[in-house]
Amino acid sequence: MMIDFLHEYLNLTGSRLGCGQGVCHACVLIHDREDGTSEEIRTCITGAHFFGGKTIRTVEGLARRNDKGEVVELSAVQQAFLTHYSFQCGYCTPGFVNAATVLVEKLKREPVEKDKVEETITEALNEHICRCTGYVRYFEAVKDVVLSTPGLVKGGK
Ligand code: FES
Ligand code: FES
Repeated sequence: MMIDFLHEYLNLTGSRLGCGQGVCHACVLIHDREDGTSEEIRTCITGAHFFGGKTIRTVEGLARRNDKGEVVELSAVQQAFLTHYSFQCGYCTPGFVNAATVLVEKLKREPVEKDKVEETITEALNEHICRCTGYVRYFEAVKDVVLSTPGLVKGGK
């Protein structure tokens, strides 16, 4: 499966193997479609061959890095998760970060009405399981990003 390829051949261990059965979504990466949209794909149930020729991002690729590969700036989602202490053990966090990143990118294309923000976030994170049950802080962090990033909500912030 793709998660084995990421871990064993590329040493990219940020995508987490949780259930291994397509349920928990800890293992998702981001697939950048040719039409400019993005989506999450579960790497525990998707073979590496599926990604041949496709553009993907793992959680390791979200922060800005310098020429030496050092992280110099977290993405807005990563920073919000830190600010809100949105994790306990952190095992599920990369999946939540990727889900929130895909959501933010979707809202840049299709802004949501302000009164739909909460249900939109719930829908986007709904399939991600946190065994530490840290859902409230994840939710608050994503809400913070959505409301503070210009252009994601119709009618202003
Ligand atoms: S590890 Fe892939 S969905 Fe749980
Ligand atoms: S923070 Fe521990 S599984 Fe989510």
